[in-house]
Amino acid sequence: MPVLPPSNESRERLEALLATAVDGIVIIDKAGSVQVYSPACERLFGYVSDEVVGHNVKMLMPSPYHEQHDDYLDHYKTTGEKRIIGIGREVVGRRKDGSTFPMYLSVGEGRFNGEAMFVGIIHDITDAQAAQQALREVQSELLHVSRLSAMGQMASALAHELNQPLAANMNYVNAALRTLEPLKRDEVRLAGELLAKAAAQTARAGQIIRRLRDFIEKGQSVHALAELNDVVEEALGLALVGAAVANVKVQRRFQRGLKPVSIDKIQIQQVVLNLVRNAIEAMQGGTHSVLTIATFATGNNRVTVSVSDTGPGLAPEVEGKLFLPFTTTKDTGMGIGLSVCRSIIEAHRGKIWAGTAEGGGALFSFQLPTREGEAEHDDT
Ligand SMILES: Nc1ncnc2c1ncn2[C@@H]1O[C@H](COP(=O)(O)OP(=O)(O)OP(=O)(O)O)[C@@H](O)[C@H]1O
Ligand SMILES: [Mg+2]
Repeated sequence: MPVLPPSNESRERLEALLATAVDGIVIIDKAGSVQVYSPACERLFGYVSDEVVGHNVKMLMPSPYHEQHDDYLDHYKTTGEKRIIGIGREVVGRRKDGSTFPMYLSVGEGRFNGEAMFVGIIHDITDAQAAQQALREVQSELLHVSRLSAMGQMASALAHELNQPLAANMNYVNAALRTLEPLKRDEVRLAGELLAKAAAQTARAGQIIRRLRDFIEKGQSVHALAELNDVVEEALGLALVGAAVANVKVQRRFQRGLKPVSIDKIQIQQVVLNLVRNAIEAMQGGTHSVLTIATFATGNNRVTVSVSDTGPGLAPEVEGKLFLPFTTTKDTGMGIGLSVCRSIIEAHRGKIWAGTAEGGGALFSFQLPTREGEAEHDDT
């Protein structure tokens, strides 16, 4: 291997380093021929060293990298323009059996005996990508739950609203029936029969609506004791998956040692998710975007979570009705995120409110009773 130092001691040292490195190390010369192929690479690619050393490195790459690599090296030689050297990026590796895997490749350039050499360090990111994918799935599931719970809320309100006119309708029909009863003419009797049918259909509509309400209200939530910081951290992880947050800096200000809360974890995570998504949406297109999420004890028996951003703050036209369903300033928004948040927090005997953050962005906070706070509440 020409690139290895000739002296025995440094050679041994370098070989020990290559043998113990967890990430794969490949060194190529300026023509792309592999000079060094570390033992970790044997595990990653399935080729042993002899099968690779002396051959073109493109054998470790699938299409289209495979076909492009020679041109890329030529391009670099003639123009000096770097696409990966000194930077590194996510690429795809090809194993001996033809299968591929995602990897992070960082490439450095060096010189040996006056010749340019490129050192590539290969980190297998299969697990990291699978974890990201799993997170993305859970996130979309949570959003789906959020939408469902909003629909449940709407259906419940709708059921309530419809019940009243239905009951009134029933009363009118019955009154009309009683009015007609003493009259004996045939046409009147027919009208009476039609009215009785109308009454039966109205009763049926009422029943459907009652059943719907029962169904929604039976969707009981599961409360368990939880550490608020953990719940928030987990929700934050879910909320931040995705490319839209690439330019947002996230600051955590978690107070340690908070008393546990008895909550429906999924629901509280939905609240955090909705607030964080709103904050990120508000900061889209801005520069120096910072999302701050804080937890702290409030008095003895309450804990508060706040989410603030460096966006434009609340639009005057939504102030005062932020938490009502269908309040939105977004073209694609339904305006239900915050109304869902409010119903969840209120079901937990907490409160949620909005304000202005230092610097003019929006600040949303919600407060929950701790377990002891809840017990106190029950006694009074
Ligand atoms: N962090 C924020 N900064 C500025 N305005 C906000 C922020 N969060 C919410 N708002 C305002 O409150 C409105 C209502 O928010 P909400 O989450 O209820 O609905 P949405 O985000 O518009 O739509 P949906 O959540 O249903 O997709 C938003 O349209 C926006 O005008
Ligand atoms: Mg929203």
